[in-house]
Amino acid sequence: MAQAEDADRWLREGAARHARGEVAAAEALYREVLRVRPDDPNAANLLGVAARQRGDLAAALDWGARAVALRPGAGAFLANYGAALAEAGRLAEAVATLRQALAARPDDAVTLRNLGQALCAMGDPRAALAPLERAAALRPDAAEPMLALAHARREAGDAAGAAQAAEAALGRARGDPALAAQARFLLAALGRAAPPARAPAAYVRDLFDQYAPRFESELTGRLGYRAPEALAALLRRAGVPAERGLRVLDLGCGTGLSGAALAPFAARLEGLDLSPRMLAEARRREGLYAALHEADLLEWLPRHRGAFDLIAAADVLNYLGDLAPALVAIAAALAPGGVAAFSVEAGPAGTPYALGEGMRYRHDPAHVAALAAAAGLAELARAPATLREERGAPVAGELFVLRRGEGG
Ligand SMILES: C[S@@+](CC[C@H](N)C(=O)[O-])C[C@H]1O[C@@H](n2cnc3c(N)ncnc32)[C@H](O)[C@@H]1O
Repeated sequence: MAQAEDADRWLREGAARHARGEVAAAEALYREVLRVRPDDPNAANLLGVAARQRGDLAAALDWGARAVALRPGAGAFLANYGAALAEAGRLAEAVATLRQALAARPDDAVTLRNLGQALCAMGDPRAALAPLERAAALRPDAAEPMLALAHARREAGDAAGAAQAAEAALGRARGDPALAAQARFLLAALGRAAPPARAPAAYVRDLFDQYAPRFESELTGRLGYRAPEALAALLRRAGVPAERGLRVLDLGCGTGLSGAALAPFAARLEGLDLSPRMLAEARRREGLYAALHEADLLEWLPRHRGAFDLIAAADVLNYLGDLAPALVAIAAALAPGGVAAFSVEAGPAGTPYALGEGMRYRHDPAHVAALAAAAGLAELARAPATLREERGAPVAGELFVLRRGEGG
């Protein structure tokens, strides 16, 4: 009896500490609850929530499944488990679970948004519209659901509706510069504003964090992604020795597809990326990277002057518009005589950079070549290439291999 009262008290105290952000202390209390009441559904659910906050998705899924099994039909448990499934890229299960959660709690705005975003990620933006419209209406001051609605409308082909929602999200995002920047970026991609010099870092990080569990299967499967191999082949053609002798940096390394293609050149291979979830996938490729760095390339490179013999960026510079700062930073991080290799999506001649509806930048290859020369990078090889498919059509790109002068 005393133990049951203790368990109730620990649960309350744990939830209070959890709400104050003391996640580790809360978890310890939930575990105490389970010690005396191993089948306590609330403790299992809250351990799942805490695990997700710590980024331990495997534990979040285990606890979430257990909570739902212990109390089937509980809306809050289903909502948390569904959110974890979506984060893990198990989209069909996420959609089914979130729908069950909504059957119990139809006006839960967070679950409506999670459902909408999972449907978009599954490639069904039309089905996402109703839950996202409802989420945006339920939270009239919140920018996130309105921004999610704008993206779903864009993906569903409704550019005017997307722009309207992005304007509304911008209005709601006062006081949150990161969200406002994302709304402005979307408006630019829709042709309603001039493209900014780069994609907002938070947008890129969130995009790839949510994409990470599916990235490799989608890119190498459905999207026929081939930039890393094409870049490695051009490096060989340019005479860069594939003898495992160079200090190599894989810029925007993602899950490590590009690292695998660069490995034959590397005595030591390092990777850098903005997205912690992409880096977590890269870390699973044992023995490939000697070091992985979570950073924005524009901030990290200037702090590592002369540190690399080869810096490669496969399908990365299309998240930057103005390439001048990146090329200057790449040149500075190369040792004299070092080599830069990268792909860009090919854009119209005469326009330095354009932002497509796919929310990536395309560059005029002649302009890129001029910027590279100005940064002290001389052309060794250059070739047009198909980078991948998008909506069934080939994405045309240009590959560059350049050398930093020996002088300085
Ligand atoms: C399309 S993926 C390509 C990943 C990898 N290079 C490959 O070929 O598979 C683009 C990657 O670049 C990263 N990225 C984009 N902009 C970046 C920046 N400014 N700094 C660091 N990483 C960036 C993204 O997070 C993402 O993982």
